[in-house]
Amino acid sequence: MIRVILSILVAGALVSCGTRKKVDREVFDAVNESMEIKKVNEVDIINEAIKWGNEISTDAQQALMAKLTTSIDEKGVAGAVEFCNVAALPSLDEVSKKHKVVIRRVSHDFRNPVDQPNEAEEMLLKAYEYNEENGIESKPNVQEIENGEILLYTKAIKIPGEMCLKCHGDPATDIDEATLGKLESLYPDDKAKGHKVGGLRGMWSIAIPKKEVVRKL
Ligand code: HEC
Repeated sequence: MIRVILSILVAGALVSCGTRKKVDREVFDAVNESMEIKKVNEVDIINEAIKWGNEISTDAQQALMAKLTTSIDEKGVAGAVEFCNVAALPSLDEVSKKHKVVIRRVSHDFRNPVDQPNEAEEMLLKAYEYNEENGIESKPNVQEIENGEILLYTKAIKIPGEMCLKCHGDPATDIDEATLGKLESLYPDDKAKGHKVGGLRGMWSIAIPKKEVVRKL
C-alpha cells in the first residue's frame, strides 16, 4: 500500500517538475531499494532470533540440568523436588538477565501454576500439542508480538530420558513414595505427572526484544 502511494506521488513529481526529474527518479529508486533491503532484513531478523533462541534455550536447559543432577546426587529425588521448587524459576531468571530476554517454560500440564501459558503463548502451545497428537515433528518458531517490538521464540520441550520420569512419570511405577509426598504437599494441583519418554512436556517461551536481535546483526 505504502509502495503504491509512493509510486503515485513520485510519478506526479516526474510529470509536473521537469528539472527535478532525475532527482525524483533517484528518490523513487532509493525508496524501492530500501524497501527491498528491509524485506531481506525481516528474514534475517527472524533467522537470527531463531538462532539466538536455540542458543538461549540450550543454555537455560543446561543450567537447569546441571543443578538438578547435582541436587539429586546430593539429596536424592525427593530432596531435589524442593530444590526445583525454590531454584527452577530463579535459575531461569539468571539466564534471562544474562541474555536480556524473558525465559519461561510453559505447559497445560503444569506443576507450578505460574507456568500456565499467557494469551500469546496459548496458540503456539496448542500448535505444538496438535503436532504431537498427529505425529508431526515441531520446529522452533518465532512470532512478532506487542506491535512487533518483541520476538517470541518458542520450542517444544520433550521428555528426553528416564531421569525426568522420577518426578514426571507414572505415580504408580516411576515416582517413589517420598517424592510423591513432597510433590503433593508443594503442588496440590500438580498436573505434571504421567509423562513418558519422548512425550511433550511443554514449551520454551523466550521473549526477545527485536532491537536486541537487530543489534546483533
Ligand atoms: C527432582 C524432581 C524433578 C525431576 C527429576 C524433573 N523435574 Fe521438572 N519439575 C519439577 C518441579 C518440582 C517443577 C516445578 C518447578 C517450580 O515450581 O518452578 C518442575 C517443572 C518442570 C517444567 C515447567 C512446567 C511445569 O510443569 O511447571 C518443565 C517443562 C519440566 N519440569 C521438565 C522436566 C524435564 C524435561 C525433566 C527431565 C530432564 C524434569 N523436568 C525433571 C521436578 C522435577
